[in-house]
Amino acid sequence: MSGLKLERARVVSQEELYEDTHLMWLSCPAVARGAAPGRFLMIHCTDALDPLLPRPMSFHRFREAGGERQFAILYDVRGRGTAWLSGRKAGDALTMFGPLGRGFEVDAGSENILLVAGGLGVAAVVSLADEAVAAGRSVTLLQGARTAAKLCPPEHLPAEVEAISATDDGSEGHRGRVTELLAERMPWADQVFACGPNLMFESMAAVVREMRTRKPVQVLLEERMGCGTGVCYGCAVFTRKGVRLVCRDGPRMELREAFG
Ligand SMILES: Cc1cc2nc3c(=O)[nH]c(=O)nc-3n(C[C@H](O)[C@H](O)[C@H](O)COP(=O)(O)OP(=O)(O)OC[C@H]3O[C@@H](n4cnc5c(N)ncnc54)[C@H](O)[C@@H]3O)c2cc1C
Ligand code: FES
Repeated sequence: MSGLKLERARVVSQEELYEDTHLMWLSCPAVARGAAPGRFLMIHCTDALDPLLPRPMSFHRFREAGGERQFAILYDVRGRGTAWLSGRKAGDALTMFGPLGRGFEVDAGSENILLVAGGLGVAAVVSLADEAVAAGRSVTLLQGARTAAKLCPPEHLPAEVEAISATDDGSEGHRGRVTELLAERMPWADQVFACGPNLMFESMAAVVREMRTRKPVQVLLEERMGCGTGVCYGCAVFTRKGVRLVCRDGPRMELREAFG
């Protein structure tokens, strides 16, 4: 199974898409096969053995190019692994494995899709927007960031998506948290999908409780990961259904189960 087998990937391109946020297109047919919005891959961020642990990354976008399915990752430089990644150039080789985890699930009858992204959570929802738009669904993205420069610009989102922003400093869109926009949009949506920090999910859970809605809300959890494959138990979280592993049982979970 390709999910557990180390694969060699080729960097197709690398660029800083917006402030300190990098977009890398990759060619790796074995990982691209079965990859889907909300699933993830593990990348070894070294040519040697240090850092030893691979880093999890979401599938940001997909495209057909050169007769194959390619995928992109979107990332910020946080530490040693992502700093190394940002130094790779077109033509360089990377070692990775995937696709892993359970991704977003869109119900066949869902016409109106609401996406909520906090910070770099946008990395994991754009491929879902691409697929939903291609399937004729209406998509609204609520995107929150510290400041305007950290919002994914509209030209890097599918043109059909209604993009609504919130910034902590008020430099663009609503001043305040992105979750403050949720209650107004929630009644329109058939399904809600979100990726961001746990604090954002807690605020979303509070909104859902207050609205007394049973609407399905899928969230992608982020935890530090060792193996990505259910072996090390490093990504265990407590949910209403007991202990779950984010890498194996998630990263997609129902908001009420994880934050209810
Ligand atoms: C399923 C999943 C999907 C992810 N998708 C993306 C993505 O698409 N783009 C992206 O930029 N990042 C993503 N992350 C987070 C990413 O894995 C971390 O940013 C990365 O591991 C940092 O590695 P580093 O060596 O640069 O930093 P480190 O030296 O390991 O750490 C530096 C900083 O990053 C933080 N960090 C480390 N690991 C994580 C983590 N797993 N989650 C949150 N913060 C972390 C630490 O708190 C620390 O402050 C994802 C994480 C998971 C679990
Ligand atoms: S990362 Fe090892 S069990 Fe999830």
